[in-house]
Amino acid sequence: MSYRVLFVTAEYAPLAKTGGLADVSTALTRFLHRRGDDVRVFVPLYRRIAEQRLELVPVEFLQGLEVRLGAHVYPYRVLTGIAPGSDLALYFVDCPALYDRPGVYSSDADEHRRFLALTRVALDCAQRMGFAPHILHCNDWHTAFGPLLLKTAYAWDRLFAATRSVLTIHNIGYQGVFGAEHAAELGLGAGDALLHQDDLRAGRINSMLHGVLYADLVTTVSPTYAREICTPEYSLGLDPFLRARADHLVGILNGVDYDEWDPRHDPYLPVHFDADDRAGKAELKRRLLAQLRLDAGPATLLFGLVSRLVAQKGIDLLPPVLPDLLSGHDCALVALGSGEPGYEEFLASLQRAFPGRVVFHRGYSEELAHWIEASCDAFLMPSLYEPCGLNQMYSLRYGTVPLVRRTGGLADSVAPYSPAHGSGTGIVFEHFDPAGLRWAMEAALALWREPAHWQRLVLNGMAQDFSWERQGALYIDEYRRLAGPG
Ligand code: ADP
Ligand code: GLC
Repeated sequence: MSYRVLFVTAEYAPLAKTGGLADVSTALTRFLHRRGDDVRVFVPLYRRIAEQRLELVPVEFLQGLEVRLGAHVYPYRVLTGIAPGSDLALYFVDCPALYDRPGVYSSDADEHRRFLALTRVALDCAQRMGFAPHILHCNDWHTAFGPLLLKTAYAWDRLFAATRSVLTIHNIGYQGVFGAEHAAELGLGAGDALLHQDDLRAGRINSMLHGVLYADLVTTVSPTYAREICTPEYSLGLDPFLRARADHLVGILNGVDYDEWDPRHDPYLPVHFDADDRAGKAELKRRLLAQLRLDAGPATLLFGLVSRLVAQKGIDLLPPVLPDLLSGHDCALVALGSGEPGYEEFLASLQRAFPGRVVFHRGYSEELAHWIEASCDAFLMPSLYEPCGLNQMYSLRYGTVPLVRRTGGLADSVAPYSPAHGSGTGIVFEHFDPAGLRWAMEAALALWREPAHWQRLVLNGMAQDFSWERQGALYIDEYRRLAGPG
């Protein structure tokens, strides 16, 4: 009962990460590998990976190759190597013309070709390796043309006769739309007729849409988000197509990689703790407050925020709520993130307005992210939408109470605390408006003042288990439904 899986992704932690896609690609493929599945992961050799001095070895029979996308021909070769912390060998696509650039993503005119090339190369290399996958597993818009390519350009090859395709939607907010003048680059031949014709006439091609239309199975990263994206409010236009494929759409909540995120052995922390003895957490809070020169003590409710600073994350709700709250209560905030300049500026100005009460670290820091999860008392995730969200699940394990809006994976992983029953793991608000967030933060402050309740809430959260052993098994169920017993 093991599967051959061709897994294609734009991000892989810790090598190339901008968000949760990286964490999930890594954790899911490691889970498959541990289980004994033959999983071959294809990722671009971005400049930032090339600079990491991993010991990469050229794959002998995957050298001096080229991938043709319409009139564009890109020379490439494939290197293999082990990512830190695992013995799973990855396949890195070394194509400097496409990947030797500063970031993982770009706003360059050939952005769609960067990932179309990745998808094509993965399939071409499977052919050269004689690797007949049971499952082609694609992720987000970047590799969403995989299923259609399998049904057209690669349909002739018996190697793929039994291959079934899966598209996992991590975020429907990014759909990879590009101009119809690039249609020939897809290399579909007569399969062009399978492109969405109204879009073509309107001059555009939507990558995610074609994954939705042609994947044998579409998954997304929580059951609630699977329902939400079937509605116009959440789908950014794809809901009619998703509803039409409702029988082939499933929501599977992401797991947490507890090797990386566990206060009992977190390598970023000098002090460890667990549910039975949380003295280490208090000590970490003391050290963080001192290090950041915050004028706050053990009785101050310390809120944490680690986020891409984009509208999705609900940052718009903060300006109307935080200044009042910080003036009127014994609370403080440590925020880490980067993104839209307006949001960065708001957090920087909050720090100026509340010296000693607010620290904003602009940028990306794996270490500080772990410190915030471990040291804070509560974690803010007031998302506008959230396909899954990982930080609220990390927070639970670290005894940091998640304060979330009831949407997507937040709704599926955080249960509202009920003082009457002592049940629930976090503070949950319903409506996306400042009043909702204000209510939730005040509820947190009220519970904080009642140590018996706060302790119950913390311990309920720490007892949760979102391990990949559980969540990954749900992917295996789907693989089995698609490809048989393996
Ligand atoms: P998304 O993928 O939408 O950004 P997730 O909650 O799924 O949201 O995953 C975000 C991941 O990225 C988490 O592992 C989080 O700790 C990390 N992250 C986000 N911003 C930063 C940052 N500025 N520094 C360090 N880690 C960050
Ligand atoms: C996306 C979503 C996030 C999810 C992550 C991993 O980036 O925004 O909610 O957790 O993908 O699936």
